[in-house]
Amino acid sequence: MHALVVYDTTYGNTRTIAEVIATELGRGTRTLNVADLTETSLDGIDVLVAGCPINGWKPTERMRAFLQTLTPGSLAGVRAAAFDTRIKLFLHGDAAGKISHALQTAGASIVAKPHGFVVEGTEGPLAPGETGKAGAWAAFIGAELRAST
Ligand SMILES: Cc1cc2nc3c(=O)[nH]c(=O)nc-3n(C[C@H](O)[C@H](O)[C@H](O)COP(=O)(O)O)c2cc1C
Repeated sequence: MHALVVYDTTYGNTRTIAEVIATELGRGTRTLNVADLTETSLDGIDVLVAGCPINGWKPTERMRAFLQTLTPGSLAGVRAAAFDTRIKLFLHGDAAGKISHALQTAGASIVAKPHGFVVEGTEGPLAPGETGKAGAWAAFIGAELRAST
């Protein structure tokens, strides 16, 4: 399995979640900051997990720029899932759902519901228990991947 976890981050909390997910998915999983993506970064991947902070009720500008590079069919045969980090506000907006929709539009098969992980303030830290939830979410993804291969 060639799995890639692509993330954006300003203060490091989303990178922490990305690393927990990659560790849980196991061998063959790489993490990559969206800022370091190149034209060949997605070559040969079977699994793509993408996540970023919510910024202004939507994905970050860098994540949106990446999603815009995905042409219809470019993720055909790739299994995917999306997450975000967010503050626990009544009106926090959404990034994970929008990323998930974009991955699906590019042809990916979505294997888990989009998931938001909570930070306690703009700079973090992650709320208690959120890394555990990230591990559990990734374990669910891993089980889905094994069930469908
Ligand atoms: C410019 C800006 C806009 C933000 N907008 C939102 C928002 O609309 N909803 C929300 O829940 N959090 C919002 N946040 C909080 C971020 O989600 C939070 O800073 C982020 O999850 C931290 O992740 P990071 O450490 O990976 O950067 C915003 C933060 C910044 C800096």
